[in-house]
Amino acid sequence: MSGRIWLSPPDVGPLEESYLLAALRSGWVAPLGPEVDAFERDVAHRVGVANAVALASGTAGLHLALLALGAGPGQVVVVPTLTFVATANAVVYTGAEPVFVDCDPATGNLDPALLRQLLAELDREGRAVAAVVPVDMFGSCADYDRILPVCAEFGVPVVEDAAEALGSGRGGRAAGSFGRAGVLSFNGNKIITTSGGGMIVSDDAELVARCRHLATQARQPAVHYEHAEVGYNYRLSNLLAAIGRAQLHRLDMMIDRRRRLREKYAKLFATRPGVRLLADDDAGANCWLTVVVVDPGAAGWRAGDLAEHLAGRDIETRPVWKPMHRQPVYACARALLSGAADQLFADGLALPSGSGMAESQIARTLETIDAFVEAR
Ligand SMILES: Cc1ncc(COP(=O)(O)O)c(C=O)c1O
Repeated sequence: MSGRIWLSPPDVGPLEESYLLAALRSGWVAPLGPEVDAFERDVAHRVGVANAVALASGTAGLHLALLALGAGPGQVVVVPTLTFVATANAVVYTGAEPVFVDCDPATGNLDPALLRQLLAELDREGRAVAAVVPVDMFGSCADYDRILPVCAEFGVPVVEDAAEALGSGRGGRAAGSFGRAGVLSFNGNKIITTSGGGMIVSDDAELVARCRHLATQARQPAVHYEHAEVGYNYRLSNLLAAIGRAQLHRLDMMIDRRRRLREKYAKLFATRPGVRLLADDDAGANCWLTVVVVDPGAAGWRAGDLAEHLAGRDIETRPVWKPMHRQPVYACARALLSGAADQLFADGLALPSGSGMAESQIARTLETIDAFVEAR
């Protein structure tokens, strides 16, 4: 058996090829075009919102959504400490200050009780909070039943970082639809990819129009290119949108494959002491990445031991995100912590989860893990 097994590689094939070729042959190359419009409509429909703007990345989406909500110098934006750095960086791009809050150890998602405590503290201090940005971690929606009322209590808008969660849902609502705006990523490792890309989705037509304007160099509708403010070159190209449309057709199949893989991991670990799957009771998850959490005392081994064993057999894994308050770049930032994110960083491991994994690769991964656990 040979060949590297990746964590979450792009799953593209003949359908993507035919969509891309058709877009190229249509002449709509430079750079916007009908595929972008159609991709926006398709994704908005899937998420169940009225508006969308396709962008070059999810990071660009977070940046623009925050700008549209007025985030800027002197303001605070609340961000989970357990996330990919893009969530925090987007806040800094606006000039606002990111303040970090810890997570629920069962899911890795923003802890609503700590969020309430933090917003109350900031309120007492008279700080202006431009937004809260919950992250749907590894494809499991955050606890919006509790988060949204807390944010409403303090009058703070929510930007949902659903970069990892297209196709997920909770309580009958789709990921991306919970806040004033939702942000998706189509980066190469995500559940669907445009190679690189992102989208803002929202029922707020004005907000999306504002983001579209800012993403297009803030160009006024004049033939001579009139600009009244500084904008960005953040739009997605027509060719990449064509790939995204093909991927969207296959989304449910891809979720299904990732879910079946998660079930296999769950079965493998069910009889092993000290190992659980993160957010394993979330029936609405898109199962983007399956993460095991290992209690070394009960299991007799560490997540890092399994990572090392798999790396030695050419199987990629990844630790859970290193919390933002541990990152040198954000070491001085304010944070309200419980220790949960630190614990998940120490004990969590993301396992190969790609929808394009061949049956032989799945079998090899499971056998390799099984052999490791058996030997302990
Ligand atoms: C939670 C989270 N937020 C934001 C991003 C940024 O998305 P992009 O890579 O498309 O800029 C990512 C992934 O890359 C992510 O995982």
